[in-house]
Amino acid sequence: MKITVPSILEKKQRKEKITMLTCYDYSTALILDRAGIDMMLVGDSAGVVFSGYENTLPVSVDEILYHTRAVSRGRKNALVVADMPFLSYQVSVEEAVKNCGLMLKAGAEAVKLEGGVEICDLVNKLFLSGIPVMGHIGLTPQSVNVLGGYKVQGKTEETRKKLIESARALESAGAFSVVLECVPEELSKEITEIIDIPTIGIGAGRFTDGQVLVINDILGLFEGFRPKFVKRYIDLAPVIEKAVKDYIDEVKEGKFPAEENIFK
Ligand code: KIV
Repeated sequence: MKITVPSILEKKQRKEKITMLTCYDYSTALILDRAGIDMMLVGDSAGVVFSGYENTLPVSVDEILYHTRAVSRGRKNALVVADMPFLSYQVSVEEAVKNCGLMLKAGAEAVKLEGGVEICDLVNKLFLSGIPVMGHIGLTPQSVNVLGGYKVQGKTEETRKKLIESARALESAGAFSVVLECVPEELSKEITEIIDIPTIGIGAGRFTDGQVLVINDILGLFEGFRPKFVKRYIDLAPVIEKAVKDYIDEVKEGKFPAEENIFK
């Protein structure tokens, strides 16, 4: 069944857990969709795990558009959410609406924006323009230089209150869901109970309405760093390395191509 923005909201009402993984290419999109994932996030994490940047800051609108087109071509049922890169929505409302609209033209059905209260006027403008918005609060990697690193957020009374206020403001502005990244479990539980839109957790514990992880992390394809909240479901890097070594050996030994691989 096709997943839509309203069906994501209904899942919260039915207390049905929501599943989301990042996805950056067509072949993987086909597999994730077939497996029954609810949402595929064309995350700006592509900048790190796909492009090899040090962080997500260099990612451009064109790069997310490229990945969004590829993922959308592989999507049948899942909702595709495009992650708005750094500086694509901060400069002016006009530019932000245009950039977000381009994501929908490329095949996404919603966009994700990092930020809380400070982006709510824009979120409302997007909502009124027909562009569904997923918020993202807590650890917002595009603000790594302000936050001073990739740290758990909302640990003090002041930051806890700020996060609750942001979650409420995003809901009022028309966001259809909100990612909570690296937030203590107790706080993400509280936010999940306070707001009516679904919370999607990453490093936010067990009580959010849904979970999201980076696909390369759960498959063991990215060996750069491994945060505590990641669960590796398979260790693919050594499997791929072994297959590539076998190929190299067979080519060198003249075993590949074999009889069944040649045209006559
Ligand atoms: O870019 C990304 O992958 C994300 C998720 C980790 C939430 O924003």
